[in-house]
Amino acid sequence: MNTTLTSKLAFLGNQQETLFSEAFKVRQKYFGTEVYPRGVIEISNHCLLNCHYCGMRKNNSNLKRYRMQVDEIMSQAHLMADHGVKSIMLQSGDDYQFQISELKNIVKTIKTETNLHIILCLGERKKTDFETLLLSGANMYILKLETMNPKLFAEVRPETTFERRLDKLKFLKNIGFEVSSGFIIGLPGQTLDELIDGIYLLKELGVENASVSPFIPNQDSPLNNYEPGNINIALNMIALMRIILGKVNIPSVSAFSMLNDEGQLRAFEAGANVLTINFSPLKNLEKYLIYDKKRAIVNLEYAKMLIKNSKLDCSILQSKITERLAQTTIA
Ligand code: 5AD
Repeated sequence: MNTTLTSKLAFLGNQQETLFSEAFKVRQKYFGTEVYPRGVIEISNHCLLNCHYCGMRKNNSNLKRYRMQVDEIMSQAHLMADHGVKSIMLQSGDDYQFQISELKNIVKTIKTETNLHIILCLGERKKTDFETLLLSGANMYILKLETMNPKLFAEVRPETTFERRLDKLKFLKNIGFEVSSGFIIGLPGQTLDELIDGIYLLKELGVENASVSPFIPNQDSPLNNYEPGNINIALNMIALMRIILGKVNIPSVSAFSMLNDEGQLRAFEAGANVLTINFSPLKNLEKYLIYDKKRAIVNLEYAKMLIKNSKLDCSILQSKITERLAQTTIA
């Protein structure tokens, strides 16, 4: 157990600012002041699991379910590429009725038509499916461990096990995927020690991307009456991940905005370097409710405002803005 690190998770005030500036120096060393934007499309909200924290759980009958078609996904992918975004993330529940043949076709089409870097977050599929997706052109797979405590894991993800998820994460890495994992901060019963252990596990796994989201109680889930995760612990976790993991991508996720208007800006100050911009079609947004009915949507406009307020740079989005202004002037 690392008592010093554990106590840093509770830092506030001056101690927290010092921790953030140490983390920001590491961030600057590897990524300067650039924010790396990526675009997400939430391709299906079907899920056959019943995770206790998640509003997309199978038994939530209050949710209208959808599964996107390839042409609909492609038009959003092109929109993203037109804005200069270089990475596309396709996200869904554990929806195994989304056939692998269909997913393979989607990945191949995106690669051929846009050449975007492809990130998949499609749940714990079969190992052969992972191989198919990699061979089709996908680059990164996200499989969050959510909690390091196998007992808590079994309680909140009753149909799955920590060991199997970890095994699949290692498999993904071994076959050549870039991998991403991370934790929900503030699940009931979680300890600070396990969070520090989590950072070291991510280091051992050699993940390319690490993320944390503060827990947001969802009204249609069994954990609806629990307190949200502590935003400062989640922010300090970002800072410690940055210091310990060095050159990994760390997103400033929208769940931070749900707890505090400045939450995502603080995540950048703590060392995050990635911003995920939502390119899901508007009609689907209210149906993709992992966290809460009042979900925070980072659309392109909000993303630009955040980057502006963060005083960081985003040459990709910025160059597109300048290009468009130039075109307007000529016209
Ligand atoms: N609070 C915070 N994060 C959540 N996730 C799902 N439900 C919640 C919640 N209630 C996160 C998990 C999941 C990701 C898509 O969203 O980390 O992997």
